[in-house]
Amino acid sequence: MKLENARILLTGAAGGLGHELAKQLHASGASLLLAGRDVAKLEALRATLGPRCAVVAADLTRAEGVALVARVARDFKVNVLINNAGASAFGLLENQPRASIEQVLATCLEAPICLTQALLPWFKALPEAVIVNVGSMFGSLPFAGFTTYSAAKAGLRAFSQALRRELADTRVAVVHIAPRAIDTAMNGEAVTALNRALKSESDAPDAVACEIVAALVRNAREVHLGFPERFFAWLNGFAPGLIDRGLAGKLPIVKRHAAYRQPA
Ligand SMILES: NC(=O)c1ccc[n+]([C@@H]2O[C@H](COP(=O)([O-])OP(=O)(O)OC[C@H]3O[C@@H](n4cnc5c(N)ncnc54)[C@H](OP(=O)(O)O)[C@@H]3O)[C@@H](O)[C@H]2O)c1
Repeated sequence: MKLENARILLTGAAGGLGHELAKQLHASGASLLLAGRDVAKLEALRATLGPRCAVVAADLTRAEGVALVARVARDFKVNVLINNAGASAFGLLENQPRASIEQVLATCLEAPICLTQALLPWFKALPEAVIVNVGSMFGSLPFAGFTTYSAAKAGLRAFSQALRRELADTRVAVVHIAPRAIDTAMNGEAVTALNRALKSESDAPDAVACEIVAALVRNAREVHLGFPERFFAWLNGFAPGLIDRGLAGKLPIVKRHAAYRQPA
């Protein structure tokens, strides 16, 4: 897709990755509808970007939030939806409160499905439209300590593939991007320490945003970012037992960091 013709609804626009995506997409000539919950953060971002921007504030885990964002998006004449908003939770499943499980599933899986559904009739009537789902490497390489998040992102990956197949006879494209760890506020102290202990690489948000913009321009379908994670994700697809054995040795490190509590 040519970005100068793109009118993009970007969810999670004021977050770590969203902010960088907004800057790069806008610099490429796209018009942006910036979505998030915090109107002050969205307005501050709009002020730094300048013209060709609008904001909409809503909680996407609520049906009325999805309906509002979809209505404003149609008025804005969007032809690209980037489902970037997300929420994570690190810890052992047995310690994860029910509310946290629901929040992760609602934000990472249910919200993108429902927002996509609300915009589909509009998108199908356009000459060209693209849906970009920002998943995670954990959706293809599920990890201890991130059970619910891995499940949500694996669900988003399956949703992206199923929807692409369902829309094969339309002009609506579906892109699924799975980054590895990114240096944003989503990863608190415990996750940052875990990644350091596991020697897991993490990427700067501007580098990940650059890959997402490039995927949009070249009409990519499935993109996993980062090596060797991409290789292990592929291996996990047909030999998960090998990955089980490989990751078993890391479990004590995950458990130690999952027990970490920030000082009060
Ligand atoms: N950070 C990583 O290591 C990593 C790795 C792989 C994939 N990802 C994915 O990349 C995407 C961006 O994450 P990030 O790292 O930029 O995280 P972030 O800085 O925490 O940003 C998350 C964004 O999601 C929005 N959001 C959360 N709950 C929402 C809700 N109920 N309704 C509407 N918006 C909501 C937040 O907006 P407000 O605060 O304004 O409401 C925020 O802007 C996510 O899908 C994440 O899963 C992240």
